[in-house]
Amino acid sequence: MPGGTAASFRAMFAALEPIGRDRASGGYRRFSWTGADLACRAWFAEQAATRGMDCAPDRNGNLWAWWGEPGPDAVVTGSHLDSVPDGGAYDGPLGLLAAFCAVDELRDRGVRPARPLAVAAFTEEEGGRFGVACLGSRLLTGAIEPDRARALTDADGISLAEAMRAAGQDPDAIGADPALLATIGAFVELHIEQGRGLVDLDAAVGLGTGIWPHGRWRYHFAGEANHAGTTRLADRRDPMLTFANTVLAARKKARLAGALATFGRIAVLPNGTNAVPSTVDGWLDARAPAEEQLAALVADITRAAGERGDRDGVRVVVTPESITPAVAFDRALLDRLGAALRGVPELATGAGHDAGILSAAVPTAMIFVRNHTGISHSPAEHADEADCLAGVHALADALDTLLT
Ligand code: HGY
Ligand code: MN
Ligand code: MN
Repeated sequence: MPGGTAASFRAMFAALEPIGRDRASGGYRRFSWTGADLACRAWFAEQAATRGMDCAPDRNGNLWAWWGEPGPDAVVTGSHLDSVPDGGAYDGPLGLLAAFCAVDELRDRGVRPARPLAVAAFTEEEGGRFGVACLGSRLLTGAIEPDRARALTDADGISLAEAMRAAGQDPDAIGADPALLATIGAFVELHIEQGRGLVDLDAAVGLGTGIWPHGRWRYHFAGEANHAGTTRLADRRDPMLTFANTVLAARKKARLAGALATFGRIAVLPNGTNAVPSTVDGWLDARAPAEEQLAALVADITRAAGERGDRDGVRVVVTPESITPAVAFDRALLDRLGAALRGVPELATGAGHDAGILSAAVPTAMIFVRNHTGISHSPAEHADEADCLAGVHALADALDTLLT
């Protein structure tokens, strides 16, 4: 690659940087199947074409770029292009930038792969538009029913099926793809670390060993709309009050359990300043070191919500939206990568990834890149270029070992 890996990384980063960026916040709003997502997909296809890699979406809309003919025992690396609302520049894209840079490095080294290599970009990893995290990899592995996925709707009531069709992707074709899965010999996802584990370990790069069990639950609080200026407090059935108490209960119960609980999204009807709301929907994101702890935590929060709802005259309905069990990445693969990467540290994470979904079906591992502040899911997310390039070299070494 003329100019080397750093120049190539910078050029790719610069081409992707303006896409889907909100001027006011500086964060990214790259929601799947929107114009921003399609522009990101065009960027991906261009990177593949520049490298002579055949690029096409699979039946679920995940993008695949191949070095060599698609076939058995393929080594696959990749991540995602979509973002959370006002996300950072690295969560997802770094894994794809690093993948294409690693392909360049391997070619510069004169590596002649003994098996195919694919770079994959999975759709709707964040669930930022349709609510279910890792939707593309869940569909691929059969972890979600196609009918349920097609019927998911965004905040404007547009279904996944409608959004896919409008973007030129056939929604009737979605679902488990055992033939494609069977071609994957190993999957390695590189990702910016979304915490300060590597800072504490004083390392630019680490190997991911596993992911905390986690999930999303929709809490629906139904009360009675009424006038803010005339309805006595004692006469109100105010779902906001029940919701607020549930947020506080979730925080306290998570702290006591050594777990995490977050209400980061809310929808209020009718959303008027001078009206007691009729309904509040709040989405709980909960994570814990073990599955039993997670289940107990959510049960506790749900009980607290129900008890408070009884006092407030508010009906509470809780619906799980996506749950991911504990993930332990493939030990034999980690050992091979550990040998190739000569003593990089290992660490687990509380953040979810497509690698976690794929690990149920294929040998899977992750590589994390240091994030000095640990901030993620924010416009302030950042990784130093030197650490990103250390990640590229590590990924190239890992792929080199797996390909030859
Ligand atoms: O939400 C998550 O854990 C991930 O960043 N998608
Ligand atoms: Mn994320
Ligand atoms: Mn991510």
